[in-house]
Amino acid sequence: MTIQQSLEAQLDQLRQSAHSAIATADTLERLEQLRVNYLGKKGELSQVLRGMGKLEASDRPRIGALANEVKEVLAEELDRKRATLQAAQIEAQLEAETLDVTMPASYRPQGRVHPLNSTIDRALDIFVGLGYTVAWGPEMETEYYNFEALNFLADHPARDMQDTLYLSDGNLLRTHTSTVQIRYMEENEPPIRIAAPGRCYRRDTVDATHSAVFHQVEILAVDEELTFTDLKGTIKVFLEEMFGELPIRFRASYFPFTEPSAEVDVQWQGRWLEVLGCGMVDPNVLKAVGYDPEIYTGFAAGFGVERLAMVLHQIDDIRRLYNSDLRFLRQFS
Ligand code: DAH
Repeated sequence: MTIQQSLEAQLDQLRQSAHSAIATADTLERLEQLRVNYLGKKGELSQVLRGMGKLEASDRPRIGALANEVKEVLAEELDRKRATLQAAQIEAQLEAETLDVTMPASYRPQGRVHPLNSTIDRALDIFVGLGYTVAWGPEMETEYYNFEALNFLADHPARDMQDTLYLSDGNLLRTHTSTVQIRYMEENEPPIRIAAPGRCYRRDTVDATHSAVFHQVEILAVDEELTFTDLKGTIKVFLEEMFGELPIRFRASYFPFTEPSAEVDVQWQGRWLEVLGCGMVDPNVLKAVGYDPEIYTGFAAGFGVERLAMVLHQIDDIRRLYNSDLRFLRQFS
């Protein structure tokens, strides 16, 4: 076999082995490796061409042309294969990153407003609609704001340890939101219309309708010529807005800071449930904050928020509002 024949055979063999290697390459890395192995500077084709030095000068162009042809064919096969592999890679990537919008979403628990807070919000909304301003006072109080300024006599039974939670420093936890009446009047002049929500504390025995910690919304209106009729109308409008048409009754009662005083019940589950106390502000209370009772009169009321919530949501036991049972709380949206 002449050198020329041998070179031709080598080129042919190289083309065939490269062809099948390219055909079976399954990654871009493997393909690049094949390109270097066959067509690179130190690759197989270069090695074959090195044998050309031994050829007759007249035979070189033929072999050179053949080598070029092999090189071009293989380069083209490599390009085609590379394009195919790249397309497959993109396809696989797209497949892997596809977002399935029909998959169930992960559960994120969402909080809700507690029925006590939503009841307070609702009550305040109604009073704000009637022209009242929201006011606040502290939960820790002095005897003066909780009792004295509200016309409680020094030996009033409510001041007894039984009802009031005293703190070791002589202060106490307010037993009602009526304290805010005094604090607000001290800082403001009539005309006054406020609604004051907040937490209250008593040494009460807990049962289905009593809790040692509870909430009230207090209202106070002071102006010239306010009468018991204004009070009654305000309470009536409020309860109608809150509950719709529900039988209510005013019952004569007694509070040290109002004269006359009343309690209001609503008909609920076949019985009367007390939801608020109210009355005309006692002249002594007006005097305590420096108002002239000959010029001004006022009315006030204290609503039991838990009672309102119970009526609103048909809750049979006040304790459900405090034991944070999610099965209960989830019913309120
Ligand atoms: N502070 C009273 C209580 O806690 C409720 C109350 C009664 C508030 C009459 C008032 C009122 O403003 O006028 O039992």
